[in-house]
Amino acid sequence: MMKHSIELLITEKQIAEQVHVIGEQINERYADPERPLILIGLLRGSCLFLADLCRQINRPVILDFMNVSSYGNSMQSTRDVRVLKDLDEDISGADLVIVEDIIDTGNTLSKVREMLLLRNPNSLAICTLLDKPSRREVEVPVDWVGFSIPDEFVIGYGIDYAQRYRNLPYIGKVIPE
Ligand code: PRP
Ligand code: MN
Ligand code: MG
Repeated sequence: MMKHSIELLITEKQIAEQVHVIGEQINERYADPERPLILIGLLRGSCLFLADLCRQINRPVILDFMNVSSYGNSMQSTRDVRVLKDLDEDISGADLVIVEDIIDTGNTLSKVREMLLLRNPNSLAICTLLDKPSRREVEVPVDWVGFSIPDEFVIGYGIDYAQRYRNLPYIGKVIPE
């Protein structure tokens, strides 16, 4: 790990406000208040966002998790995405919301989305706390974005630098020293 310092980018309060706004928008999107919504968290980065977001949802919610690992191959333009942990739920006919902490190149979400659509859900929406549009390699339809940010190395609120800082309550950026 290089020598670095952390600079505040998004405060705990700003995050809480956006989580509330997105929660309200999700509540308005789905017509039937009795129909469960399956919130799918992508491990590990999304767990804090998911934990806060699910408490804003005013209908039955099922939580499920998927862990995928993406690794680049410099000789190829597409990136492989391996499933390390699949969902536990049968999602056929269900309303899904994939919850992510950050979209960077878009490879992770694009592959996960394709995989889940093959299982014939009733609907599939995507929600991300952070988006770095300038880094996009693959287009992904995103339904809710908390904050659109420039290409900074961000950490906190679930997001790691070499597995550290996920527990920070705010979003910071890493400044090399
Ligand atoms: C990070 C982040 C997103 C993904 C975004 O996860 O949490 O899931 O990368 O990158 P992409 O848009 O370029 O695919 P990471 O693979 O670091 O795993 P983690 O969530 O366990 O930290
Ligand atoms: Mn992740
Ligand atoms: Mg990571």
